[in-house]
Amino acid sequence: HLPKMKIVPRSTNSCKNCGESMKKAIEISYKTWKKQEDNFRHFRFQLSSRCHGFDKAIITQTNTPLGSKLVYDGEKKRTLQVKPEIFNTFPKVDPFSNKTRSTCAVVGNGGILTNSKCGKMIDSAEFVIRCNLPPVSNGYEKHVGSKTNLVTVNPSILLDKYGSLMERRRPLMEKLCSYGDSMLLLPAFSYGVNTLVSLRAFYTVEDFQSPIRPVFLNPQYLESLALFWDSQGVKAVRLSTGIMMTSLALELCNNVHLYGFWPFSVHPYSFQDLTNHYYDDKPAKMNVHAMPTEFSLLLQLHTQGVLQLHLGDCE
Ligand code: CTP
Repeated sequence: HLPKMKIVPRSTNSCKNCGESMKKAIEISYKTWKKQEDNFRHFRFQLSSRCHGFDKAIITQTNTPLGSKLVYDGEKKRTLQVKPEIFNTFPKVDPFSNKTRSTCAVVGNGGILTNSKCGKMIDSAEFVIRCNLPPVSNGYEKHVGSKTNLVTVNPSILLDKYGSLMERRRPLMEKLCSYGDSMLLLPAFSYGVNTLVSLRAFYTVEDFQSPIRPVFLNPQYLESLALFWDSQGVKAVRLSTGIMMTSLALELCNNVHLYGFWPFSVHPYSFQDLTNHYYDDKPAKMNVHAMPTEFSLLLQLHTQGVLQLHLGDCE
């Protein structure tokens, strides 16, 4: 029996499955997780045949030739013809180079990572994916690790925290130092407002000769992901970055581990109150994502042995 407590879902007001997720999360803590190869292959096949993350997730000069038309996934009526100056920002070859990674960690930003001591375990993965330029130093590394192979940046961060890159650009460059030579993934063609600021980020990285490698998320990939998850029951304005990156990892990696995914206000094992993020309590955007629904599907994939969700402490 769960103790009496108020569980608040993140990113939505209503939560039909909050209590259910809590119960399932407790249940899985009593069971040893084992990968189920058949289920994994089946799910990966479904994803890759509908979304083609391997060669479509990132815009390249091959999948988006000069003169082609980009259709924004967040604003269907907006298109952009690829002219030389934009084309030249695309990498020539696929940055994933058709190589499957053995183990990947996808790190969400949930407050469940606070004091989790999961840093070492996360860093032991061959490929680590992080979301929205999260902090990985100043003591956080013990709980979330610091290794990063791919980090996303929501352009709203560039607009709100870095003055749209219209003023000083050094603060962004200092922030990017934490991620070494990882890929910096920008959804430049999801909404019109994202494009110029993403290009400015690209040129800033080039001008400052930072080792980080900016690349753009392909709106066609995001559109197919949205349709895929809609068919699984995710009805939302937009998928969360976390589920986008989990989907990509399921194509790129043979073993997928998730950390920092828990869109609820109470810890499933200690029943302590949690902040929304491990580094702040900024609330999730209301009614944009359907994080609790996404989470119940991730829990299902965990039980089916497709991926492993880590909710408890690591040491
Ligand atoms: N997340 C989670 N539980 C939380 C907070 C975040 O499961 N309490 C996951 C979500 O999948 C989310 C990801 O971690 O997409 C990254 O977190 P955050 O930076 O908070 O994402 P959002 O601000 O919601 O932005 P986005 O639109 O990029 O998803």
